[in-house]
Amino acid sequence: MQSDYMHWAKFKKAVRYALTMSEVPHVRMDRFPLTLADLDLDGASHPRYAPLRERIGKRYGVPVEQVVAADGTSMANFLAMAALIEPGDEVLVESPTYEPMLGAASFLGATIKRFDRKPSDAFRLDPAAIEQAMSPATRLILITNLHNPSGALADEAELRAVGELAARIGARILIDEVYLDAAVPPRQSAVHLGPEFVITNSLTKVYGLSGLRCGWILAEPELAERMWRVNDLFGVNQAHQAERLSCIAFDHLDEVLGDTPAMLAANRRLFNEFAAARDDLDVMPAVHGITAFPRWSGGDTQRLYDHLTTAYDTSIVPGRWFEMRDNFRIGFGLPTADFSEGLSRLGRALDDLR
Ligand SMILES: Cc1ncc(COP(=O)(O)O)c(C=O)c1O
Repeated sequence: MQSDYMHWAKFKKAVRYALTMSEVPHVRMDRFPLTLADLDLDGASHPRYAPLRERIGKRYGVPVEQVVAADGTSMANFLAMAALIEPGDEVLVESPTYEPMLGAASFLGATIKRFDRKPSDAFRLDPAAIEQAMSPATRLILITNLHNPSGALADEAELRAVGELAARIGARILIDEVYLDAAVPPRQSAVHLGPEFVITNSLTKVYGLSGLRCGWILAEPELAERMWRVNDLFGVNQAHQAERLSCIAFDHLDEVLGDTPAMLAANRRLFNEFAAARDDLDVMPAVHGITAFPRWSGGDTQRLYDHLTTAYDTSIVPGRWFEMRDNFRIGFGLPTADFSEGLSRLGRALDDLR
């Protein structure tokens, strides 16, 4: 068992214009008033480091009993699933989706069923598709919001409808919200929609602090307790210096976010103009988020990737990683000047392959 996508993402060819980038530029910690004392290793981490849980809880307006800390959204997803899935349980997973979520559910022995997020419907979360795929044996529904790869937003009405379906059969819904803070305008977390909802997030994508590995799960207290106990088998607790730095980041979250919304808006605008002018790409205008998932009329986008990396020092994520070979994922996470140059190179590569 492994994540072939994650391995590819880590070791793919390095290029100058990585349009694969789904995280905004890294925030430099020297912007903050840090002293060495801020990095003390005093052991306070061991009993579920309260200062960080309090900050996470405060941000969402939920009690600390509902907050579980984890190494990034990745471990948050795994812990949440490990507490929710027994081998053989039926789990519904959106298609296309972020491959490691699918991989984690398989690793835990789930029986996987899929429901479509249709390109013809702008990858909308369609409660009717879930209702059709669901059975009395369904224990868990896995969703990304914003959707990875398309960036589509599932709105509150759609999520409430899914919540009602899940409540009917006693299932839970795990929503990976790692991109949600890049919704325009900002949206509330689904944790407020009812006890069926379990959410995960981190300071990674939107905040440019992936190095801290500061992730979290929000769930009902009894479930949260189970997740903490599962983590005792894996990591016991987080690296304490990272916890302390994460507290500082939470205390300056607006500053950490800084110009990111403006940068993402500028990059989305450039992308929308670019895509609108091309008859070989099919994609809805990007409104939210850090990714889009256009369809290319030229067929398998691995061919586009190969040409783009070789001839133009630029990359996209081929659609094969999302089980849709004719699409590719583009990320808006580069500084705008680099993003613009990357787009122009992408345009030349597409022209070459026409
Ligand atoms: C949907 C989704 N969840 C989780 C992650 C990983 O997040 P983290 O770095 O916080 O573990 C990614 C990264 O690509 C992602 O796209």
